[in-house]
Amino acid sequence: MSRSIAPLLCIFLLLATSSASAFNITRILGQYPDYSTFNDLLSKSGLATDINKRGTITLLAVPNGAIGDLASKSDDILKRVLSTHVVLDYYDPMKLQRMKEKTAKMTNMFQQSGTAAYDQGFLNVTAKDGTFVFGSAVVGSVRDSKLEKSVMNQPYNISVLGISKPIVTPGLDGTMAPISAPPPKVPAPKKSPVAESPAEEEEAESPSQEEEAESPSEEAESPSEDDDDADSPAPSPNADSPPADAAPPPSSAGKLKASFGLFVVLASVVAAY
Ligand SMILES: *[C@@H]1O[C@H](CO)[C@@H](O)[C@H](O)[C@H]1NC(C)=O
Ligand SMILES: *[C@@H]1O[C@H](CO)[C@@H](O)[C@H](O)[C@H]1NC(C)=O
Ligand SMILES: *[C@@H]1O[C@H](CO)[C@@H](O)[C@H](O)[C@H]1NC(C)=O
Repeated sequence: MSRSIAPLLCIFLLLATSSASAFNITRILGQYPDYSTFNDLLSKSGLATDINKRGTITLLAVPNGAIGDLASKSDDILKRVLSTHVVLDYYDPMKLQRMKEKTAKMTNMFQQSGTAAYDQGFLNVTAKDGTFVFGSAVVGSVRDSKLEKSVMNQPYNISVLGISKPIVTPGLDGTMAPISAPPPKVPAPKKSPVAESPAEEEEAESPSQEEEAESPSEEAESPSEDDDDADSPAPSPNADSPPADAAPPPSSAGKLKASFGLFVVLASVVAAY
C-alpha cells in the first residue's frame, strides 16, 4: 500500500512546489473590491505580468477612492509609478513593528528598470503617529502614504498592504512637482574656515533641492551624498554595485526552501521503501 502511494505523493508534492513559486496578483487583488481600480491599472500597464514572475513581494495598494490622477497617466509612466509601489521583499505589519530603528529603506521594483536615479528605486518607511508612513526615499520627497491595513498576506511570499494614497516619486513622469523650488540663495563659492554651522546647513540643503527643482536629467550627474549605492543609472560605468541589490536574497531563500522541500520528499520516499 505505502509502496504505491509514495511515488504519487512525490509527484503531487513536486507539482505543488513548482506551482507555488508563482502567483497571480490579478486574481489575488480581484478578491478585494476596494482595490479594483488599482488592480485594473496593474494589468493595463503590464506590471501585473512582471509582478507574477517574482517569488517575494510586498504590494502597496491604493484604494479606489484615493487613486487620484494615476488613472489618467500614460501606460509608460503608469508602469513606472506603480513599480515604485512594489517592494522586493516581504513586509507584513508584524515585520514592520519589529524594525529596530522604526524606519527602513526598501528596494522597489523601479530599481530594476535600470533607469532609476538618485533614490527613486527605494522607499522610506517610518513609524509615525501609531502607524507607518511610506514615501519615496528621494531627498525632499513627500512621505505621507499611511499604512491603513493589511489586505492579505502569504508569508513569506506576498503581502498586500493598503496605503492611504499613491506614493509620489520625484522625477518619474518628467516633472519635479512635489519639490517646490527654493528661493534663490546666495551661493558660497568657497568654504568659510570659521563658521561651522552654516557649512553644515549648506551640505544638507543646497546640493539636493536646487538641482532637483530644475530638471530631472541633471539629477543623475549629481549624486546625493547620503546614499551612494542608490545612484546607479544604467549607463554609468563606475557604478560598482548593481541596481538589483535586493534581488538575490529572496530568490536564494526561495531556492533554499524549494530544495529543502525536495529533500523532505526524497527522504519520505526513501523511508517509504
Ligand atoms: C490571472 O487571473 C486573472 C483573473 O482571474 C486571469 O484573467 C488571468 O488569465 C490569470 N493570469 C495567469 C497568468 O494565469
Ligand atoms: C514561496 O515562494 C517560493 C519560491 O519563490 C516557493 O518555493 C514557496 O513554496 C512559496 N511559499 C509559499 C508558502 O507559498
Ligand atoms: C526615512 O526618512 C526619515 C525622514 O522622513 C529619516 O529620518 C529616516 O532616517 C529615513 N530612513 C532611512 C532608513 O533612511
